[in-house]
Amino acid sequence: MAQEALYRKARPMTFDEMRGQEVVVRSLKNQIMRDRVSHAYLFTGIRGTGKTSAARIFARAINCENPKDGNPCNCCETCRQIISGSSDNVIEIDAAAHGLIDDIRQIGELAGHRPMYGKYRVFIIDEIQEMKAGASNAFLKTLEEPPSWVIFILATTSLKNIPDTIMSRCQHYTFRRLDYETAADQMRRILKKEGLDADDDALLLLAGLSQGSMRDALSLLDRAEAYAAGERLTVRVVNEALGIRDLTAMSGLLNALLTEDAGGGIRIFREMTGEGTDPEGFMNGFLTYLRDVLLVQDGYDAGSGRGNDYEAAVKRDAARIGHGELTELIRHFSEAQIKIQFGEMKTVAAEMAIAAACSTKKREAGLIARLAELEEKAEQLLPQESTGGMI
Ligand SMILES: Nc1ncnc2c1ncn2[C@@H]1O[C@H](COP(=O)(O)OP(=O)(O)OP(=O)(O)O)[C@@H](O)[C@H]1O
Ligand SMILES: [Mg+2]
Ligand SMILES: [Zn+2]
Repeated sequence: MAQEALYRKARPMTFDEMRGQEVVVRSLKNQIMRDRVSHAYLFTGIRGTGKTSAARIFARAINCENPKDGNPCNCCETCRQIISGSSDNVIEIDAAAHGLIDDIRQIGELAGHRPMYGKYRVFIIDEIQEMKAGASNAFLKTLEEPPSWVIFILATTSLKNIPDTIMSRCQHYTFRRLDYETAADQMRRILKKEGLDADDDALLLLAGLSQGSMRDALSLLDRAEAYAAGERLTVRVVNEALGIRDLTAMSGLLNALLTEDAGGGIRIFREMTGEGTDPEGFMNGFLTYLRDVLLVQDGYDAGSGRGNDYEAAVKRDAARIGHGELTELIRHFSEAQIKIQFGEMKTVAAEMAIAAACSTKKREAGLIARLAELEEKAEQLLPQESTGGMI
């Protein structure tokens, strides 16, 4: 039987179960308790920090028959219908989906009717930044003067493409990255419910790898758990499970890049993936390693909890690579990671990224040589008077 992913299973169902978003949670609960809710909200923040969860909790809380301190009861008829998806008090729309214009038309129609049960009709619109101009204009009309029973909650990871016209009509809340302690503590609670146990260091390591996204932390925890198969989660087990077991591989790959040894770099990658690490996991490990090196260069304490060997390797590499070159490598591999994550040919993408990183300097040197050559040729081709009339 396929196991349900932890991050789905562990979706917070009340505001009080949400972690690390105290400011947002407190404001929303207060508004609900004082019956002062606004008609449009914009939730922004990095992926997996609780935007969709909070929107759903909010939608239930304002419709709930027995709310408690601003939380939904999740037991009354209205709550249960919303949870099961059979209520049209809450409508979720993905702005990136096809046929959005039709959806917007439907929003307009639905919004016009008072809901049969509960007080409000709530539209949760995800990925609002993806909304195309046509849909956006149609949507603005509805957003401008919604009936008193309509509430919009817009969610996005990227504020960049949100038109001012939408921004200015919404109350804006920012969801923060979860700090490592909070993320680790949340993982501990979830594991406890499953009757599982883990070392603190192992959970902090997972929290660090997921960089403040609770969903990412739980996905990694899932992978580590599957690998551990009942064995207690330790730093060693996590390292093994996520393909960052071989510290020498990380340091070795960096060395290959710095010495422009593409063959050596790819060999290390193949050895690791040959032993069962997936390309994505490998790159995750490598990026984390580069980040730790960068942190040490910036004067932070990086890599604690990963053992002395790790800390020593990070410090050694921090001393031998230039800050600019390092940030460039991080940029390069972060971009590559997206291709690896979402592309079909993950191995090819990873190997190409390694090879390209090795030849950046070569390319630069080659370009400069070619430029000089071209300049020389251009000079020869120029009409004589403009070069000073040599003959
Ligand atoms: N603040 C949080 N407290 C507890 N769990 C959280 C929190 N944020 C995220 N999670 C976990 O991550 C899962 C995904 O969260 P959610 O869908 O709310 O994130 P999101 O911010 O909407 O992400 P995205 O930007 O990718 O849509 C939840 O089911 C839950 O397991
Ligand atoms: Mg979401
Ligand atoms: Zn209820």
